[in-house]
Amino acid sequence: MTNKTDRIIIFDTTLRDGEQCPGATLNIDEKLVIAKQLARLGVDVIEAGFAIASPGDFEAVSKIAKIVGTENGPVICSLARAIKADIEAAAEALKPAVKGRIHTFISTSDIHLEYQLRKSRAEVLAIAEEMVAYAKSFMTDVEFSPMDATRTDPEFLYQILERAIAAGATTVNIPDTVGYTTPNEFGAIIKGIVENVPNIDQAIISIHGHNDLGLAVANFLEAVKNGARQLECTINGIGERAGNASLEELVMALHVRRQYFNPYLGRPEDSQESLTNIDTRQIYKTSRLVSNLTGMLVQPNKAIVGANAFAHESGIHQDGVLKNRLTYEIMDAQLIGLTDNQIVLGKHSGRNAFRTRLKELGFELSDTELNKAFVRFKEVADKKKEISDWDLEAIVNDEIQQTPDLFRVELVQVSCGSNARPTATVTLRTPGGEELTDAAIGTGPVDAVYKAINRVVNVPNQLIEFSVQSVTGGIDALGEVTIRLRYESRVFSGHAANTDIIVASAQAYVNALNRLYSALQSQEKPEEVSAQKV
Ligand code: KIV
Ligand code: ZN
Repeated sequence: MTNKTDRIIIFDTTLRDGEQCPGATLNIDEKLVIAKQLARLGVDVIEAGFAIASPGDFEAVSKIAKIVGTENGPVICSLARAIKADIEAAAEALKPAVKGRIHTFISTSDIHLEYQLRKSRAEVLAIAEEMVAYAKSFMTDVEFSPMDATRTDPEFLYQILERAIAAGATTVNIPDTVGYTTPNEFGAIIKGIVENVPNIDQAIISIHGHNDLGLAVANFLEAVKNGARQLECTINGIGERAGNASLEELVMALHVRRQYFNPYLGRPEDSQESLTNIDTRQIYKTSRLVSNLTGMLVQPNKAIVGANAFAHESGIHQDGVLKNRLTYEIMDAQLIGLTDNQIVLGKHSGRNAFRTRLKELGFELSDTELNKAFVRFKEVADKKKEISDWDLEAIVNDEIQQTPDLFRVELVQVSCGSNARPTATVTLRTPGGEELTDAAIGTGPVDAVYKAINRVVNVPNQLIEFSVQSVTGGIDALGEVTIRLRYESRVFSGHAANTDIIVASAQAYVNALNRLYSALQSQEKPEEVSAQKV
């Protein structure tokens, strides 16, 4: 193995580091849906979770290993602290994967050693060496991360990397754990590693970084120029605090500016060959899926996948683009799979046309999912004359959302207006099959609906985010509601789409409450789980 690969390896950690941001918690089936889409996107490695963290994490890694980790599929990876029990759990969960990887880590900066680990450098060196070797006894593909590498003494960093590689690490990952570094500095760290770790040619240099200063992508690109060949990133840049480096930004930067990057990878400058294995036309769809299932909205001005990323408002820009697209556009929206939002179906369209279009859009649904989605499609088509690709996508994403089916919305009725007190009546079907109706007055119709739902469900919580977005233009557009609510220290999200935004609001709220209710039922203590996560 050599770090001189002339291609960039994309390591997606949406399901591990990305899922750690408050409220982004996904259940096992949702993780599987995302993992399948990541495989379609063409990522090389999926970090599917942290197997020891909880039985749910273990099962998710194991299920993804079995279903997505096939012969032609990506490498499936599990995180593990440099602790035997973690490594054993990771190895066990990864067993079904054709290509598995254990990613083990330990902190190396003095500040972490002194206050968190309370260990000396010599002790950490010995642990890293022993645990990499232990991981190697389970599988050949082992990744080692010295956590907080960018604040680690470079000499110690070189030493621990050399020992980890000698013990069998095939990838060494350099995390900017606290998002502290800058592009030049990160580039110099990677250069230092290339020049000072004697056996570095036996491992791939990977990078991992958080976006606390908004520099993660810039840092990564500088690291690539200096020898990094694996990028650890997440869809929409989701992750702890300000998030991780964003996959779509990195991939498109490397694609659009490949002539600039080619020489750093030993290619002729004018080579048109892609620098990654990513099918860029799957980017938009993956972004929407992750946003819908995690409840983490994409800001409109977000590079590549934000709603405004390809919109030209200024008259001068519009004029230029009409004359020649390249005057103000550096990439074609179709490159990321943003179609022209074709109007494809209507209320007379049959199941076959529906199935065919979904297939063309890259959705693979089981018969049950297809039936559910078709019923929803007919309901929407009854109210909305023309159904576009984006509507279809919203309907399908809603249907494949795997929220526990505990409470179900049976009826929502509101009365509101300029001289009325907003009043709502709701009927919910309880997990026991009973239909319960209640009513409430609120400051507005949504508040009234939520108060009425609270009277039925009776789980105290605090609504911390409520957002409505329209899927397409037009007065009959589908409205997508995303909400986040807090219960003690934990955040749960809910998402729903409907032509009636009050109904979508009720549905989104009940989806979030169902997640909360199911977490309470499984008695998974939030504190215990987060203590395990990093
Ligand atoms: O940010 C970090 O340091 C991590 C490591 C576990 C790679 O997520
Ligand atoms: Zn991280």
